[in-house]
Amino acid sequence: MHLMQLQIQNFRNLKKVNFEPVNGINLITGVNASGKTSLLEAIYYLSHLRSFRTHQITDLINRNSTQLQLVARIYTDTETQIPLGIQRSRNKLEVRINRQPVKRVADIATQFPVLAIHPDSYKLITGSSSQRRQYLDWGVFHVEHDFFGVWQRYKRALSQRNAALKSKQNDAYCSLWNKELFDMAVYIDGLRSKYLKNLQPYLSELIRLFFNDENVEIIYKRGWVEDIGLDQLLKTELTKDRFRGFTQYGPHRAELMIKVGGQSAQTGISRGQQKTLVALLRLAQAQQFTESTGRSCVLLYDDLAAELDATHRKKILDVLVKMKIQLFLTAIESDQIDVSAWQSKKMFHVEQGQLTDLI
Ligand SMILES: Nc1ncnc2c1ncn2[C@@H]1O[C@H](COP(=O)(O)OP(=O)(O)O)[C@@H](O)[C@H]1O
Ligand SMILES: [Mg+2]
Repeated sequence: MHLMQLQIQNFRNLKKVNFEPVNGINLITGVNASGKTSLLEAIYYLSHLRSFRTHQITDLINRNSTQLQLVARIYTDTETQIPLGIQRSRNKLEVRINRQPVKRVADIATQFPVLAIHPDSYKLITGSSSQRRQYLDWGVFHVEHDFFGVWQRYKRALSQRNAALKSKQNDAYCSLWNKELFDMAVYIDGLRSKYLKNLQPYLSELIRLFFNDENVEIIYKRGWVEDIGLDQLLKTELTKDRFRGFTQYGPHRAELMIKVGGQSAQTGISRGQQKTLVALLRLAQAQQFTESTGRSCVLLYDDLAAELDATHRKKILDVLVKMKIQLFLTAIESDQIDVSAWQSKKMFHVEQGQLTDLI
């Protein structure tokens, strides 16, 4: 799968851009504030219907416009071309796949899986546990087709139980959703554990390359005490749950603990190491996705040169070239990224929101 063409209108400072990347490495250069990150952000938005920089849609729509538009052509893994289109105004979103309107972000994400590494990515380590669950679930979602439906059922049951807890309903009423919650939770936990187990070899191999002998551990916590069991906890913790107004245990509280040399990666390693580690977590995910599904995903790497020193940059580029995925990199100067190992490559230059092809 790869992106063949993207026509952008009024996305941040990209007022009107026609982007025709190659299925290889695409290097986008330009001075600060020219629009490089915005271009990657537009690709990411097409897949996630949200940005990696902001939650505000008004940040994304060009200041002099009332709506943004993205029209793409995707080359799918079944070797067909499909058009994807998004129109977004302040209060309206229209998404079309193959000219048919779609409602769910899952539909578009399935067609167009995109992963991003950017200067804020280290927050995957330092930020809240929901970021690490998102990381985990990106993989589970794309690899395990049951996951989305099961997760939707779990979320529905959870929000109904929480509403009952908040409104201080009696025990019997609050317990109505326990069975559904428990069944879905066990299923979700099983899929997450299996995914991490399958991801681990890719991760270990990459970590070995970058962290030498340091012991890096990724420890999965399912969101409840296994010895007790979630079905029990839903019963025994009901009074506390009601007092708090929400369900304390379940896969919505799952966590990935990341340790380096026995210490938490949140506090025990440098920012540079955190950035490297997050890049490896994403690369492992892209590798596992490609090998387990036989499909490929798109990888966005914003500001690679600013993120990593020359040695690490070279190592990462060596890993990337072997991955045979479509890659979008940004840099201020083209000489910061050595693209000589790539057969298929294209360079672009952005200047004040205008994109030009260099070769
Ligand atoms: N909604 C918007 N409308 C117009 N311009 C915007 C909007 N949001 C951001 N910008 C501007 O777009 C420019 C490009 O930003 P960015 O893509 O981050 O540049 P780069 O990554 O090349 O440094 C910046 O000057 C920023 O101020
Ligand atoms: Mg930038």
